Amino acid sequence: MNIGIITISDRASRGEYDDLGGPALKEAAQGYKWNVIAESLVPDEKREIQRAIREQIAKGAELILTTGGTGVALRDVTPEAVREIAVRELPGFGEVMRMESMKITKNAILSRNLAVVVERSLVICLPGKPSGAAECLSFVVGAIPHCVEVLQEVPTSC
Ligand code: MTE
Repeated sequence: MNIGIITISDRASRGEYDDLGGPALKEAAQGYKWNVIAESLVPDEKREIQRAIREQIAKGAELILTTGGTGVALRDVTPEAVREIAVRELPGFGEVMRMESMKITKNAILSRNLAVVVERSLVICLPGKPSGAAECLSFVVGAIPHCVEVLQEVPTSC
């Protein structure tokens, strides 16, 4: 599976600290044997987030993982950005990520993690904390291959 990773962070994009979320997701993706074809780092700006997603889809990303911007701070606009360009939302991803994360941290109730379809690609928005991003991905990973196959119109048995 060809995937893209987008780190969404004002401070990392200004170089005020290193991007740790992107590398954490890359390591997780490689563990799942996925092929990382694109990596982007953008500030918490809706237009920049949307542009990065479109660019990665144009490069062939069937799955895009984002990290950051899913919390309650006023600059956190990832859910708003992806919903504006989505053809549909897949609510089960956010539901499962929050339910499972609540077993780890009570702050998980603050997360607005979600998954949407943009064009024919699955976009999953994960928290900014590197360990949280990898954890949340692990909670939903089982459904990802089938979802991507259906979106890419690969014949499946179900
Ligand atoms: N989910 C898991 N599994 N592990 C975590 O550490 N952190 C939470 C939450 N979800 C966390 C988690 C916190 S502290 C916040 S504020 C929200 O995700 C939103 O994170 P973001 O604003 O960095 O995207």
